[in-house]
Amino acid sequence: MNKIAEKISIDKLRNCIKRELDDSNEYLSRWLEVFVNKAKLLPDSRRPWAPRGREYLDFYETFYYVLHWYCQFKSGRFKDMGWKIDETVAENIREKFLRLNREALSNKNKNQFHEYFKNYDFYPLSLYTAIDYKFQNITGTKVDNILDFGSGIGRQAFQWCSQGSVNLFSVDAIESLYMLQNDVYSLLFPDKLIEYFYGPERFCDPGFYSMRDKLYHLPTWKLDLLPDRYFDLIICVQVLQELNKETLRFLLRQFRRIVKKNGILYIRDNEFWKPAHKLRVGRELLEQGWELIFKYTGHEGADIAGIPRLWVFTDADNRKSFRHLTRIKRVFFPSHPFDYSAWRDYGLPI
Ligand SMILES: C[S@@+](CC[C@H](N)C(=O)[O-])C[C@H]1O[C@@H](n2cnc3c(N)ncnc32)[C@H](O)[C@@H]1O
Repeated sequence: MNKIAEKISIDKLRNCIKRELDDSNEYLSRWLEVFVNKAKLLPDSRRPWAPRGREYLDFYETFYYVLHWYCQFKSGRFKDMGWKIDETVAENIREKFLRLNREALSNKNKNQFHEYFKNYDFYPLSLYTAIDYKFQNITGTKVDNILDFGSGIGRQAFQWCSQGSVNLFSVDAIESLYMLQNDVYSLLFPDKLIEYFYGPERFCDPGFYSMRDKLYHLPTWKLDLLPDRYFDLIICVQVLQELNKETLRFLLRQFRRIVKKNGILYIRDNEFWKPAHKLRVGRELLEQGWELIFKYTGHEGADIAGIPRLWVFTDADNRKSFRHLTRIKRVFFPSHPFDYSAWRDYGLPI
C-alpha cells in the first residue's frame, strides 16, 4: 500500500515554529541579515531572501518566485566544461522539474504565471544539478546517508532519491523554501518523505534513523537530533556564506559530530563572494579535522556557477595545511602581474 504523503499546512508549520523557537535558538532560523536593509528598499520583492519573499504563499506562487530567482542566477548552459555530464542523470532531473511544472500549470484558478511556466527552460537548472551530482561522486565513496543543508527547491533529491538506495536529509529554516520543499517532496517522492512537522516526536527516537531509502525533512534547529557518525556526504550549495556567524559555528560543530570518518563535505559557492559573516570557512574546516581534497576552478575560463570543492573528514589537525606564508607571498609576488585572484584569495575563506 502506498504511504500517504506527509504534507503539512502553513498553519501547522507556523504553530510548531512558534513553540520551538525562542531567544536561545532563534538565530538558527535567519538568513542573510546583511541584505535585509537593502531588501527594505524593495518592499514588495518576493525574492526569497527579502522579508516578504520568506513568507510562503502557496505552491503555485512560491514555485514561480523561486524559479524566477534561479533563472536569473543559474541560466548558464555550461558549455566548454572540458568534461561531460551524464545525460541520463540530467534528463532524470529535468523530468522531475517538468512534473512540478505540470502541477503548477494544472492550477486553473490561477493562470497569471502560466505563460512563464510554459516557456521556462529547465535545461540549465537540470545541468546545474547534474554537475553537483557528478562532483559529489568523483571519489567513488559509497554513499548511504546524505545531508543537504539549505535545500532551496529541493533539487539535490531529484537524482539521489531516484536511486532507491540512500537516505537523504533535507534541512532548511526559511518558511517559503521549507514549505516549497515539503510540496516538492510530497509530489515527487510521497512514499519516501518523512516530515518533521508532520510528527516531530518520531525524530527523538535514535532507532528512527535506521530505515532505508527515505527522505527526511527537518529544520536547522533540530540538527542536534541526528545520530553521531552517520553521514557519508554533506552538501552545502550556495549557503555557507549566507548565514550568520553563530549559525555557521553551530553547523560546523554539528557537521563534525554527524559525519563519518572519511565522509565528504561538498561545497559549491562563489568562493570570493563577500560572506555575510567574518569566518574563514576553509580555515575553520582545517582546524576541525577536514582536509581539502578537490577544487574545480574552471576549465579555461568556463563558468560553471560556483566553485565545487570536496573536503574529507580525516579527524586530524590539518591546521598546518593553511599556507599562510604562501598566500602572503602570492599577493606580493604574483605569478602573473595582473593576478587579482591572489588578493581575493588572501582576504577570504578558502
Ligand atoms: C542560495 S539558496 C541555495 C539553495 C540550494 N542549496 C541550491 O543550491 O539550489 C540558500 C538556501 O539556504 C537556506 N537557508 C538560509 N538560511 C538558512 C538557515 N539558517 N538554515 C537552513 N537553511 C537556510 C535558504 O532557505 C535557501 O534554501
